[in-house]
Amino acid sequence: MNIATPIERPQLPPHVDPSRVREYDVFTGYKPDEVATPHDGLIRLAEDHGRGIFWTTSNGGHWFINDRELLFQAVRNPGLFSSTAMTIPPLPRDKEPKMLPLMLDPPEHGAFRMPLMKAFAPESIKRLESSIRALAIELIDGVAGNGRCEFLEEIAEPLPVTVFMKMMGIPLERLPEYRATMFDMMSDDEARRLNSFAVFGEDMGKLVVERMAKREDDLISRLIDADIDGRKATYEELVNYCVLLLTAGLDTLVNAFSFGVAHLAIDPDLQRRLKGDPALIMPFMEELLRRYGGVMPPRLVMYDAEFGGVQLKAGDRVLMMLPAGNLDPQATPDFERFDIDREEVPHLTFNSGPHRCAGSHLARLEMRVFFEEWFARVPVFRLDPESPPVYRPGINLAMWKLPIVWDVA
Ligand code: HEM
Repeated sequence: MNIATPIERPQLPPHVDPSRVREYDVFTGYKPDEVATPHDGLIRLAEDHGRGIFWTTSNGGHWFINDRELLFQAVRNPGLFSSTAMTIPPLPRDKEPKMLPLMLDPPEHGAFRMPLMKAFAPESIKRLESSIRALAIELIDGVAGNGRCEFLEEIAEPLPVTVFMKMMGIPLERLPEYRATMFDMMSDDEARRLNSFAVFGEDMGKLVVERMAKREDDLISRLIDADIDGRKATYEELVNYCVLLLTAGLDTLVNAFSFGVAHLAIDPDLQRRLKGDPALIMPFMEELLRRYGGVMPPRLVMYDAEFGGVQLKAGDRVLMMLPAGNLDPQATPDFERFDIDREEVPHLTFNSGPHRCAGSHLARLEMRVFFEEWFARVPVFRLDPESPPVYRPGINLAMWKLPIVWDVA
């Protein structure tokens, strides 16, 4: 249960004003009723308890920000809101992962980000389009004649995760195992989280050693040869790069595909429009990214400061509810409506500031190619009436299951 009432708890730190407490457990989400999806939960949380910066006693006690303006201010202020510790509930400082470049602050961060910006630049990833399309067609053709599919398992996971694993040079048969390890990484259980970092670290270490001995046409090999401020990355830094790439590549796009298809399944008119005019796929994708953002990165407060009307203390953790920042009536008056004709409003789904998603061009490329092929191959579909979608709240808003059905001629 997570009833968001301002109540005083014995464990409230002295600097937290009890009137700023709103109970919210990121691992269950705000669920005012049985049917609320993670995004409905964020909307209801703001309706019931306002937008701003609030404290929750869940998961070790932390702040969360669900106000668009405050989010922009916070993510662009890495001096106060550091990325050097990003776990909720907090892991002991010596056990925090050191994923690169994500968990560095400026100025160190810039040098480590540069090689990825090159690797993921539009001109670098363009060459992937034909292989992404071939894989999308193969997967979609595999289900199109069946009149049904479990979208997550059959399309949303294998497509982006295969593209990512090939890009990295990771053997494809590890896909199910890596997804399972990634779920552990996203859990609230300390032992599972620590084990997941150890497993990914060990596996990536082996790959780094292999590529150091013999380069291949993959991202790990390019990172080994990359220039980081006039030097090469160390073995440890290379492993930390790879672990971050795994967390970025194994889940985010899976969720974007799933939320997009879950929405389309209840909007047959929109499906017909997109089928009739593929040029609308781009505005559809931007609206999908706005309406169904997924990543809520935590930050560490570096010094005592007043922010958004509350007193922050060095060492506090803060959850940046980026998807909530896109669901703000000030920026988007009818923000709940999915409207591909709306004037574009900058969204926070890829974040803003120094850590803005380095893979956003790849994400958009995969989304465009997938939806082009899906609309060309699958008739208008709907949710499976026997088996509703199952959502997965957490630091990444996601789904466990999405069965859909359509009529086969
Ligand atoms: C729709 C899909 C995606 C979404 C919504 C998304 C979202 C995000 C967000 C919000 C951040 C910032 C995290 C923070 O500030 O702490 C981020 C960072 C990052 N993303 Fe993505 N991402 C997506 C896809 C990808 C893909 C496919 C890749 C590459 C395989 C990728 C690579 C990265 C990297 C390397 C960073 C770290 C950037 C830095 O710290 O400078 N992302 N992503």
